[in-house]
Amino acid sequence: MTDRHPARILQDLVNGHVAPRCLHVIAEFGVADALGERPETASVLAARTGLDAGALDRMLRLLAAYGVFAREGDAYVHTPVSRHLRSDHPQSLRSFARTMGSPIFWKGFTELAHAARTGKPATDWAGILAHFAQHPDEGRMFNEAMAGKSIAAVPAVLEAYDFSAFGTIADIGGGRGHLLRAILERVPGAQGILFELPQVIEDAAREGIPRTQLVAGDFFVDPLPAADAYLLMEIIHDWGDDDAARILAAVRRAAPTHARVLIVETLVPDSPGPGFAKTLDVIMLAITGGRERTPAEFETLLAGAGLRLERVIRTPSHYSIVEATVA
Ligand SMILES: C[S@@+](CC[C@H](N)C(=O)[O-])C[C@H]1O[C@@H](n2cnc3c(N)ncnc32)[C@H](O)[C@@H]1O
Repeated sequence: MTDRHPARILQDLVNGHVAPRCLHVIAEFGVADALGERPETASVLAARTGLDAGALDRMLRLLAAYGVFAREGDAYVHTPVSRHLRSDHPQSLRSFARTMGSPIFWKGFTELAHAARTGKPATDWAGILAHFAQHPDEGRMFNEAMAGKSIAAVPAVLEAYDFSAFGTIADIGGGRGHLLRAILERVPGAQGILFELPQVIEDAAREGIPRTQLVAGDFFVDPLPAADAYLLMEIIHDWGDDDAARILAAVRRAAPTHARVLIVETLVPDSPGPGFAKTLDVIMLAITGGRERTPAEFETLLAGAGLRLERVIRTPSHYSIVEATVA
């Protein structure tokens, strides 16, 4: 419960995009990279990043109010939060912030009325993936963003699930393979397969993943590899029910009868309060045409593809693991 005036609650919500938009721009122009260990004024940071000093000062003043940078006198210093915006942070979220604020993603929100009228985003996920194929720099930034956004999830998934029984683990649409790499580090006897679109495989191949076969393909067209376990992290939520069913059916066709299918996603809770799953669900509505789902919705979707939901494992992160077997 809150004793704030209802109109004030609404006003704050109406303006809720302002600080995030500042974050997108600050990340785009590399302001966190321009700030080192010494306090710097907005004028110095603006000169280093090609921004307007007054505008930057006002945007940083707002972000500092949320703990992203801190103001010391008339200068700014890093906070633990703002350090994650640096490109050289081992858990950098700079590409994630840039991607969420990029024209191709943000368009989904400027044209949210289109989604409200039609139930479909202005540019759907297939369109965005085609855009990435034509603009490799943006595609690589998205791949990096996916690794960044998974930082908190990967240790939580490892903590929640025992992968040691699997000899071969296939990560379907695994981006650069950040989840697969972390699992293989834990399970030294296992082999990995990363199945991804050709341009993403090209990106993943730059670094390579030990004991992992990189397979370029399209899960709507090409057969998937045989494996003991299939990871699908934030794949199903990118798609509406028909396409999601096609992906699961492709997994089912490839899966040996003993295989486990592990869907790592945010599940829509029954509770009425705010929550990440509800935000992510509308991001999917605006940008991909997909959706977050409840456990019951997953059960139905899986059953339609010849898979049986066995259990839902909560992790100490936003994500749950939906475990399914061949029905
Ligand atoms: C939201 S990202 C998730 C990446 C990663 N699993 C994670 O959670 O960080 C969705 C991924 O699905 C891949 N993808 C989309 N369509 C695909 C297709 N038709 N075949 C194979 N991979 C696809 C994309 O390239 C992208 O890396």
